[in-house]
Amino acid sequence: MIAIRPRRLRRSDVVRSLVREHRVHVDQLVAPLFVAERAQDTGPIASMPGIERLSLPGAVTESRELFALGVKCVLLFGIPAHKDAQASSNYDPQGIVPSTIRAIKEALPEMVVAADLCNCEYTDHGHCGILDARGDVDNDATVALLARTAAVYAQADVDVVAPSDMMDGRVGAIRSALDERGSQNVAIMAYSAKYASAFYGPFREAAGATPQFGDRRSYQMDPPNVREAMREIALDVEEGADIVMVKPGLPYLDVVRAARENFDVPVAVYNVSGEYAMLKAAIANGWLDGDRAVDEVLASFVRAGADIVITYFAKEFALRRRSERAQHRG
Ligand code: PBG
Repeated sequence: MIAIRPRRLRRSDVVRSLVREHRVHVDQLVAPLFVAERAQDTGPIASMPGIERLSLPGAVTESRELFALGVKCVLLFGIPAHKDAQASSNYDPQGIVPSTIRAIKEALPEMVVAADLCNCEYTDHGHCGILDARGDVDNDATVALLARTAAVYAQADVDVVAPSDMMDGRVGAIRSALDERGSQNVAIMAYSAKYASAFYGPFREAAGATPQFGDRRSYQMDPPNVREAMREIALDVEEGADIVMVKPGLPYLDVVRAARENFDVPVAVYNVSGEYAMLKAAIANGWLDGDRAVDEVLASFVRAGADIVITYFAKEFALRRRSERAQHRG
């Protein structure tokens, strides 16, 4: 009997790299950007060290830096000056997101500009849709607004719209609205399996999008469900989603894996604000080695089967990659 010694292939960096099964590429990362309409809303986000609410020119500068580092896709979130019951500043062609889309596409035509498509940052009550007389989110009225907003973003030259509202039937409605207006090249990255998660906490501080009453459990998914996620993804693919997403990431890696195995469309995962905040907090306390922890987390998404990783770590990861390359050369 010969001795089997798997350790032989773990002996050095070079050997480990030779037999490595998965790699994280900078070009599969997407950087979320928060863009505020008013100067007083810009600045650091306490629970997300290193991430800021940017002004419109700040978002263009940040996009240039990201592009130069190889992160060539941004996902925009708007923080409007005005909120109301109808989320009207969301489909205003002069609103913060359409204006930012135009500015980034003018400065960097090759950048893939994606825009989160939801109403929660734009409604005065903070829910993702329009409320009916009983205070419930009205599915079909909300879908009509999303379709209208998607058309406005498309007019501003967005590349990808990313509906994150979890209303039924929205992907089909958005696809039709885009196609009717000649925007057949705008892709839909659907937040297909989006769970009602505690891990969005820091985002809600960042975007000022906390529901003023109740919670999102009547539209976002119940965390213990995975078969339901497959059903949601199947519906979105049928309705025309180009890319499907699982969100959050770390607590749902099994859902990413299931999505990968059951569908042939590109799968994205969203490494959300709370996942970023918990790692950053532990790193700041000296409880974790930051670089290694971030590498391990990003690798877990790719190993689970994600093609696209949306992460607040995108820039720091790309910066580190660049300095590693410089070291190799030097
Ligand atoms: C908007 C939206 C949310 C996130 C992305 N789009 C918040 C929510 O649904 O409450 C969360 C992103 C993050 O936590 O990083 N509906």
